[in-house]
Amino acid sequence: MAQDPLFRLPEREVTDPRLFLRRREFIGGALALGAAASLPSLARAEAEPTRTPLNARAGAFSTDEPSTDYADATTYNNFYELGTGKGDPVRNAAALRTKPWTLTIEGEVARRGRFDLDDILKPHPLEERIYRLRCVEAWSMVIPWVGFPLGDLLRRFEPTSKARYVAFETLLDPEHLPGQRRSLLDWPYREGLRIDEAMHPLTILAVGMYASTLPNQNGAPLRLVVPWKYGFKSIKSIVRIRLTEQRPATSWNLSAPREYGFYANVNPAVDHPRWSQKRERRIGEFRKRQTLPFNGYADAVAGLYAGLDLRENH
Ligand code: MTE
Repeated sequence: MAQDPLFRLPEREVTDPRLFLRRREFIGGALALGAAASLPSLARAEAEPTRTPLNARAGAFSTDEPSTDYADATTYNNFYELGTGKGDPVRNAAALRTKPWTLTIEGEVARRGRFDLDDILKPHPLEERIYRLRCVEAWSMVIPWVGFPLGDLLRRFEPTSKARYVAFETLLDPEHLPGQRRSLLDWPYREGLRIDEAMHPLTILAVGMYASTLPNQNGAPLRLVVPWKYGFKSIKSIVRIRLTEQRPATSWNLSAPREYGFYANVNPAVDHPRWSQKRERRIGEFRKRQTLPFNGYADAVAGLYAGLDLRENH
């Protein structure tokens, strides 16, 4: 079994989000004072990416909690293909090429194929859903996503009666994605859901956030958002969706099954083997908050797991 890459990270790469962001503010201050010339790569990393505005109607299930600052949500990221440090994805974001982009839909569906992303998105009206994202590393954010229900897309491709799971894959492109040149995870990044989780109206495919297209570091041009699960289930830059009869392998399950279960429902009662999951730090806040079962979405989703031992199936 490969050792969990998070476990191998040097201490500085799992910095407390508060300190990381403070350091970023400090760097920002230094730039403002005219030190930019001595920090050219950081200056580039801090530059706001090009944002294309998106029109979206207000969607269901939004939280009324204040959204995380755009600057924080786009510079403190996990996207191992673009590096393991929280600041690496924004720094390496330009490496990811998102045009043209194709999405393959295969497996247990009546209509399979490889499609241009623009064509596949056309029939889906965009909604804004303000959801919490809770990372397994005990930090969280509130993000106004722009997307549409994954179930609406899957239904168009007519799942067969054998479709019990949905598997997702990120782009495999070691030439452009520096992280894939290291065997940190079993590339491409893979995730999976049970079909009822995938069809649940809370589960969305996002193409944008903060009323504009997704920045590369947040998973452009298409990512999954499953708000009641730990963030690692929300796979970025998806190129393949496969409906399957058997439970699919997932990257984190393969690398450290004891630490990252297939279900990964946010659960304050089940600690990660190396840290507590009882509390979390919302990026931009100093105090810690209690982590809520199913990340606060229990009313909508707890019923999916009736009869399942959530300690065993963490
Ligand atoms: N998807 C891919 N392809 N690669 C990754 O490393 N990291 C996951 C998830 N999706 C990851 C990924 C983890 S651990 C988290 S917490 C979320 O993305 C973070 O999303 P954000 O950077 O938009 O906050």
